[in-house]
Amino acid sequence: MEIKSLRKSFYQLYGREDPHPVEFYFAPGRICLIGEHIDYNGGWVMPAAISRGIYAAVRKEDNKIVWMRSQLDDHDLVSNLTNPIQFEKSRGWANYPMAVLNELLQKGYELPGAEVMYQSNLPVAAGLSSSACVEVLTGYMFAEMAGKPMDRTELAQMGQKAENDFIGVQSGIMDQFAIAHGKKGNAILLNCETLEYAHVPVRLGEYRIVVLNTNKQRALHESKYNERVAECRAALALLQPKTGIQHLVQADPRDITKYIKDPILRRRAHHAASEQRRVQEAAAALRRSDLDTFGYLLFDSHRSLKNDYEVSGHELDTMVEGAQQHPGCIGAKMSGAGFGGCAFALVKKDAIESFIAYIEQYYQRYTGRKGTAFMVDIVDGVTKLVDTKKE
Ligand code: GLA
Repeated sequence: MEIKSLRKSFYQLYGREDPHPVEFYFAPGRICLIGEHIDYNGGWVMPAAISRGIYAAVRKEDNKIVWMRSQLDDHDLVSNLTNPIQFEKSRGWANYPMAVLNELLQKGYELPGAEVMYQSNLPVAAGLSSSACVEVLTGYMFAEMAGKPMDRTELAQMGQKAENDFIGVQSGIMDQFAIAHGKKGNAILLNCETLEYAHVPVRLGEYRIVVLNTNKQRALHESKYNERVAECRAALALLQPKTGIQHLVQADPRDITKYIKDPILRRRAHHAASEQRRVQEAAAALRRSDLDTFGYLLFDSHRSLKNDYEVSGHELDTMVEGAQQHPGCIGAKMSGAGFGGCAFALVKKDAIESFIAYIEQYYQRYTGRKGTAFMVDIVDGVTKLVDTKKE
């Protein structure tokens, strides 16, 4: 998206006459390369920021009124920052940015009023973290406008807190962290307990990342997500007194079999422990540019998410199975919370066109639905866009 067209839409919406300049920001979406449903189990995850995301055009005002508009709907959201901010169902998507403004105010930020316009090329509620994206984007931009830029880790933590407390989803830190700390051409290897992290180069060589959108709404996503969090806590509570482990990802497979009798909790624990091992192996494979091993680990991760963690579903499985059958693909898995949304595949560059045509057809044949596939690059985290044209 170009600044020129963002500026044009902004002026159409809010008018041109104003003493303050319009500023532009971008926050990427993310895919979780590997380490799925691990962040709230205290382990290592490996997400990456992607070239689809949300843009914002914003103009500061000399008052305390915030106007927000997204191209997703035709409603203006108007809030007076001097009034308490509370969750309002009728506010829809705008609860996410408002949750963040609430956090900033709690932290003592002196926020200005503003006119904000969001435009996105990131599919919404599709497992690419559109909610974390708008949270981090809003936090970053308002902190900048308040003249007190925020440390990127603190920004991620604030987004997660907004999501946990205001929205009510017990999500981990992975999404916000990836969007805050993304680095072009690199995955982020993050320890979710200590927030220690390292960038790991993703040298794709002859391969590219293709996102596979099932276009299936993530029904039950929030309640099932919280259910998985609770199951993991229950599994840990059984293992902890016997083994002394602190986090489920540390569980030894033999202890899981020995101390957890419930078959569901046992499978959940197996996923957490095995996924953790795969993250370490995947990081090592990327460091030595071994894409075949990395791709194999993606398939294996998906199998575990499908069978042990049970967060996949017919649509995501069809995408991954279809991808696996194509000769140009060396790895694929679902990304994010699951229950619909997106998967992604590693596909040979010169086979991408044929792969996309094939997978869309395959998906339609086996699900009766229309899916969409598109290529993405790995990019930097949230940023202010440089506007070269002076107004
Ligand atoms: C969602 C959550 C993340 C993480 C993933 C699963 O995207 O927001 O914190 O738990 O699901 O890996």
